[in-house]
Amino acid sequence: MIHIAKPQMGPEEKQAVLEVLDSGMLAQGPRVKAFEEAFASMCGVKHAIATTSGTTALHLAMLAHGIGAGDEVITSPFTFISSANSVLFTGASPVFVDIDPMTFNLDSAQIEAAITPRTRAILPVHLYGLMADIGAIMKIAERHGLLVIEDACQAHGAEYLGKRAGSFSTGTFSFYPTKNITSAEGGMITTDDDTIAESCRTIRQHGMRRRYYQDELGFNFRMTDVHAAIGLAQLGKLERFNTTRIANAAFYTEHLRGVATPTVPNGYRHVFHQYTVRVAGGRRDAFVEHMKARGVGCATYYPVPIHKQTYYVNELGYDVSMPVAEQAALEVVSLPVHPALSEDDLRTVVEAANSFPEVA
Ligand SMILES: Cc1ncc(COP(=O)(O)O)c(C=O)c1O
Repeated sequence: MIHIAKPQMGPEEKQAVLEVLDSGMLAQGPRVKAFEEAFASMCGVKHAIATTSGTTALHLAMLAHGIGAGDEVITSPFTFISSANSVLFTGASPVFVDIDPMTFNLDSAQIEAAITPRTRAILPVHLYGLMADIGAIMKIAERHGLLVIEDACQAHGAEYLGKRAGSFSTGTFSFYPTKNITSAEGGMITTDDDTIAESCRTIRQHGMRRRYYQDELGFNFRMTDVHAAIGLAQLGKLERFNTTRIANAAFYTEHLRGVATPTVPNGYRHVFHQYTVRVAGGRRDAFVEHMKARGVGCATYYPVPIHKQTYYVNELGYDVSMPVAEQAALEVVSLPVHPALSEDDLRTVVEAANSFPEVA
């Protein structure tokens, strides 16, 4: 079976973990600091703050910016649920704006219509490894005095005009095992702002600037040195992993027939966290079964847009229509694109997809 994701663990990661275990320093320590410094440098920012997950990175970034009850945060309905849930954790409300049908990211032309006096921030999601329309979003934010928090959980090393995801404003990343690099579980916040970085570090550590002296309400969102050791070893391989993903994607785009392949707008570096095609005409699920029967694992990210999730409808009363996101949820399917694929695997995927009868 060719799996949709496959974490790449080599001798470097194993050795790094063993060194931590032998060191006796298991919780947040020197490896976390080293991982933070290397990650900040990869993104081209001054500070990186490690956390326990992408979700806690998002939550913490919003708390550090003072987002809370009564505030609205504009975001995409077509993403992993934690992009919007992290807004809810602060007491604020996510306000959804529909997506662009070509990029699957926030349609920046619709953002201004969603701004109200309560809007505090825009939370663009760089879905599948392609940055959102960040140039336009930064201008809108500036015009209206809004914060921007980038959900770059799927976009390690992605770029717009040569500038990295997570360096346009406050960035948030995930190191879940399916991501372009992993620390098993983990997250990171990136920022150039000294005050926001300091606030993130304080809230990550129970709101304590000095040990056992609490200044504000905080959490335990600390990454362990065991996870940081894995993340640091992986970070050294990120460029190679991304280059391989990009090459795998190029192979698919050249050879696939009958499905709508991903768009990479000019000026963008898409790092293909996912290679996502559209299968139209209500045949997506049949396509997934067809691929599975030929040994290819595919997945749908995401089958239900957030504004249609049961919790959002029944408990929070969301009653909005986002036709582009809703259509995408019916049509998208991601093919394996990870760096462990062999040339044979790539050919198997293409042959399986091109033999789907209704598409050919
Ligand atoms: C777009 C997006 N946002 C947020 C998250 C949350 O990250 P984590 O699973 O590390 O909490 C993920 C990861 O699954 C994601 O893909």
